[in-house]
Amino acid sequence: GLRKKEVNVLCLGLDNSGKTTIINQLKPSNTQTQEIVPTIGFNIERFKSSSLSFTVFDMSGQSRYRNLWEHYYKESHAIIFVIDSGDKLRMVVAKEELDTLLNHEDIRNRKMPVLFFANKMDLRDAMSSVRVSQLLSLENIKEKPWHICASDAIKGEGLQEGLDWLHEQIS
Ligand code: GTP
Ligand code: MG
Repeated sequence: GLRKKEVNVLCLGLDNSGKTTIINQLKPSNTQTQEIVPTIGFNIERFKSSSLSFTVFDMSGQSRYRNLWEHYYKESHAIIFVIDSGDKLRMVVAKEELDTLLNHEDIRNRKMPVLFFANKMDLRDAMSSVRVSQLLSLENIKEKPWHICASDAIKGEGLQEGLDWLHEQIS
């Protein structure tokens, strides 16, 4: 039959970067929530696109919950990593978490796609996606396909471009 391919996506990044806001925008409008609160632990969201059936693990980015991330690496087929482009102070923390992720034994040697959102591009002092990718040394990622999109998760801008790229990688 025409069953959609099941894809597990892990959504990671520091607290307050906009993960839940992004995932909420990707869901059908009748299932979107108005009030977005900091995630406790994680939430699981499901939605379908043209050819794929997504299960998204929307993880909390708070430091006390980041140790949960690694438990979901094995079963994930793709990663969405969200950065607050306005948060210059914590860019080094985001890089540390990204490096730890990419060096993890359950991630390291896999060709899984990694989609980056340089989110909050609407902020007056937001860094460009090029600047964010420099600060995170994304050019050093050799073993995985990756892509970075500037996004404004509140207006929903830039998200479709990212999802389209993910489609190309997976299907
Ligand atoms: P944790 O669940 O704590 O890890 O945070 P999170 O990454 O899920 O962030 P969340 O989606 O809860 O958003 C944090 C705050 O940033 C909220 O107040 C959002 O409204 C706001 N926010 C999210 N995306 C954007 C954006 O693109 N631009 C602006 N200006 N604010 C945003
Ligand atoms: Mg959240």
